[in-house]
Amino acid sequence: METIIADTYEEMSRIAADMIERQLMRKPSSVLGLATGSTPVGLYRELVRRHKEQGLDFSKVITFNLDEYLDLRPSHPQSYRYFMNENLFNHINVDPKNIHVPYGHAGDVEEFCEWYEQEIKRAGGIDIQVLGIGADGHIAFNEPGSSLGSRTRLKTLTKQTIEDNARFFDKAEEVPRFAITMGVGTILEAREILLLANSRKKADIIAEALEGPITAQVSASALQMHRHVTVIVDAEGGSKLKRADYYKWIFQEKKRLIPRLIGKVT
Ligand code: PGA
Repeated sequence: METIIADTYEEMSRIAADMIERQLMRKPSSVLGLATGSTPVGLYRELVRRHKEQGLDFSKVITFNLDEYLDLRPSHPQSYRYFMNENLFNHINVDPKNIHVPYGHAGDVEEFCEWYEQEIKRAGGIDIQVLGIGADGHIAFNEPGSSLGSRTRLKTLTKQTIEDNARFFDKAEEVPRFAITMGVGTILEAREILLLANSRKKADIIAEALEGPITAQVSASALQMHRHVTVIVDAEGGSKLKRADYYKWIFQEKKRLIPRLIGKVT
């Protein structure tokens, strides 16, 4: 795992955008795994800017989003499909037929989840998966206790997640209690993973996930088993990391070795 401690949210977002851009340069038809939430908004803003100002091309890209609230239609302003349209898809040249966001209004949820898994496989698997982390350690909506081998399925959200997400809804009662989410096992199959976390609110859980034991109680800790993970945090998000100095040192040293090290893993 490589942990990069950026000074600011903007720098975190720029480094993440650099990684996505490099991936698209290597493979224009990349399969991108995308996340919602406040964390990746800066990354999406930067990708949109690069598309508009520098011609970053998404025409061959295929996307899969991590999750969606149950029972929210794509046109619902709090649905994750709506969020993705507003923050990214409407502003880049991705082909709408290459976009996949779990469908919260699926009639047969189990069948839908199986189909979603098959679609990811048919696309050739996810090349790079963007993740945020919840205050309870979830990645996607894999709440504490989620099997580390879990696949796309329906999950019941924790009270903490419902409270955290209530800020986007008029009333806490309106926050959906269930979501369709890729599983931890699904996520671990991505070839490369990019975990982003910013703000003091994430500092404890980031330290637990990266430096604590691997446990189903903190889904993000499963990333320790993946062979190609980059974690990018801002200064506040990384403020509880015990080995922060070492991670910073690695980053500085690696910069000296680039371009020889580009694409290689520590
Ligand atoms: P946030 O959510 O980006 O809004 O903090 C992250 C998550 O819950 O995965």
